[in-house]
Amino acid sequence: MFEPFRIKAVEPIRFTTRAERESALAEAKYNQFLLRADDVIVDLLTDSGTGAMSAAQWSAMMRGDESYAGGRSFYRFRDVVQNLTGYEHVIPTHQGRAAERVLFGSILQPGDLALSNIYFDTTRANVEALGAEARDLVIPEGRRPEVVHPFKGNVDLAALETTLIEECERIALVMVTITNNSGGGQPVSLDNLRSVAAICKAFGKPFFLDACRFAENAWFIKEREAGQKHQTPKEIAQEMFALADGCIVSAKKDGLANIGGFVALNDDALAEKCRNLLILSEGFPTYGGLAGYDLEAIATGLEEVVDEQYLRHRIGSIAEFANRIAAGGVPIVQPPGGHAVYVDATRALPHIRSLEYPGVAFANELYLHAGVRTSEIGSAMFGMRPDGREAPASMELVRLAIPRRLYTSAQMDYVADAVIEVARRAAEIGGYRIVRAPRVLRHFTAEFEPVGVGAHV
Ligand code: F0G
Repeated sequence: MFEPFRIKAVEPIRFTTRAERESALAEAKYNQFLLRADDVIVDLLTDSGTGAMSAAQWSAMMRGDESYAGGRSFYRFRDVVQNLTGYEHVIPTHQGRAAERVLFGSILQPGDLALSNIYFDTTRANVEALGAEARDLVIPEGRRPEVVHPFKGNVDLAALETTLIEECERIALVMVTITNNSGGGQPVSLDNLRSVAAICKAFGKPFFLDACRFAENAWFIKEREAGQKHQTPKEIAQEMFALADGCIVSAKKDGLANIGGFVALNDDALAEKCRNLLILSEGFPTYGGLAGYDLEAIATGLEEVVDEQYLRHRIGSIAEFANRIAAGGVPIVQPPGGHAVYVDATRALPHIRSLEYPGVAFANELYLHAGVRTSEIGSAMFGMRPDGREAPASMELVRLAIPRRLYTSAQMDYVADAVIEVARRAAEIGGYRIVRAPRVLRHFTAEFEPVGVGAHV
């Protein structure tokens, strides 16, 4: 895949030895979130806010209007979001989870039920923080890493209808994540979104998109869904947004920005509630916790991200990277996702039990071996339930998230070869135990300890 851009600014990479990484990881309590980024050679912890901005974004930032209220940059941002989504009310926030808090805080009551395909970690936590229940209803294929399906992020429509019939009173909203991050960066089809919209309408429930990666989802629809080839990614995105009542977006993904997010919706009364909550903690509704220059960077990013050349390279280069890893015998979620490749740690490390965190074990060995930082999406992230009980997550994955426009194909080849080498050494890798962790969103700050190869907790 030929990169459809030239590189104008570069940052040096600091190379480390295995011995240096061993002490860095021990100091970080075996939690890669606690590493210093300078101790990382290739950073695939997240694709969120870590991409390279374009010359057009940097120059737009110089035009940022920093007025407290009514800034020009807000109106440009609002117009771009309105044009893309079709929603009337556009409420900026400092990032995606603030949008979650503002939207959920304006709708959910304790005891409510909020349905999704699969919630991402902070999204689930924001539902649960309000005393509501977050329930995932992805199709069964969506939880089976080896099963190939073009739209593994789809909602299980029969389960959605049954839940709506059986628990209608409690259900406050339905939110579909596009693409489905926790389920492998998998897309949701237009057809599925249409059905979800129709079902929500029939039951009178609001339907929102968690649309951080809307452009990647649109590209998959263009490539895989019958009758969509002739549509542009932007037209497909507009059609997706038109099916829902509103969205929350972290602009750190397909906004191509380093920070930012927004809520966008049509309901006047709900928008007013959101704005009031926004003022309490984020800021005035025309900046929402962002600088004027951030609003400019996001507005330009949202225009750039639907470019066909960009998306063809983005999705195509990740597929190439995934295929190289898979060809080396490493089990990954198939087909590859839109923003990341997910190693199936259950199959890569079959000797490590779920609650000894095979995903953490694989990720840590990859860091030690090659200085590549990744994140676990498994029992460390999702194993702690709201009632304080620990239970295995449905999948144990290691996510290699690819920042946008940041790494070259030579760097990604280095990573692929390292992943293959780590998988080859599976028998030498042991599990972990958690020695200290908070109850909520524990994976960010938990402290781990190796249990030793062949040993069990
Ligand atoms: N929803 C989804 C699907 C996400 O992937 C994220 C963030 C958020 C909401 C929250 O957005 O970080 O701007 O507050 N995901 C990042 C990740 C952190 O690594 O996947 P945020």
